[in-house]
Amino acid sequence: MRTPFVAGNWKMHNDLAAARDLMKGLRAEVAKPTGVDVAVCTPFTLLYPMGKELDGTDIKLGAQNCYFEPKGAFTGEISADMLKAAGCTYVIIGHSERRHVFGETGEMLKKKVVAAQQAGLHVIYCIGELLEERERGKTETVVDQQMKEVLTPDLDTSLLTIAYEPVWAIGTGKTATPDQAQAVHAFVRAKLSGIYGSDVANSLRIQYGGSVKPGNAAELFSCPDVDGGLVGGACLVAGDFAAIIRAAQQSAGK
Ligand code: 13P
Repeated sequence: MRTPFVAGNWKMHNDLAAARDLMKGLRAEVAKPTGVDVAVCTPFTLLYPMGKELDGTDIKLGAQNCYFEPKGAFTGEISADMLKAAGCTYVIIGHSERRHVFGETGEMLKKKVVAAQQAGLHVIYCIGELLEERERGKTETVVDQQMKEVLTPDLDTSLLTIAYEPVWAIGTGKTATPDQAQAVHAFVRAKLSGIYGSDVANSLRIQYGGSVKPGNAAELFSCPDVDGGLVGGACLVAGDFAAIIRAAQQSAGK
């Protein structure tokens, strides 16, 4: 049985005052969620103060990226050890915005995943196809490739979550239908089984991301291979994020 996992990706949003307000709202709604793991992934500059805001709650802190070198002359970069020291439990690696806006390659992402796990961080590894790739029937080929490049047998699967985020559904208000999400999640799990064996594949969480909202979360999370969500826009509103967390709680044991 997999515990559903809901993570909020703040992306490049919130100043300190807005972030504190959002955390206050979240604490009031779901300080100690049961039957679901919850994380908020903030911009780097907010990690330390938001870690303090989360003290006494069961909500964990995450970052949205890291560099693969442990230290050195890498102006503007942040190491995995620095994230750990700032209080992070999680780090998102391979988000489509990192791949498509910043040109991160499979080779770089592999190094980042290894560095993050070596620092003791739990990696949320994102995969997903572009609209034109889906339209050309290439969804499975693309996610398979993104998995093969990074998900090698040497990784620590106890520090791994997969997030399937179809790029055409991110920030567009277009959500994959539950059937579309389930089909890709089942494919991903079958591929994970090929790499790690069926016991591990059945224990790994696969989140869905892409316009998850309070109104569609329950239906998506009820799919057998959808184990919660990676939430962008809706996680910036405490009540909406809390409603999505509750939908995941209700999906537990499905
Ligand atoms: P939206 O929920 O805003 O579509 O963003 C999804 C996402 O990219 C989460 O990482």
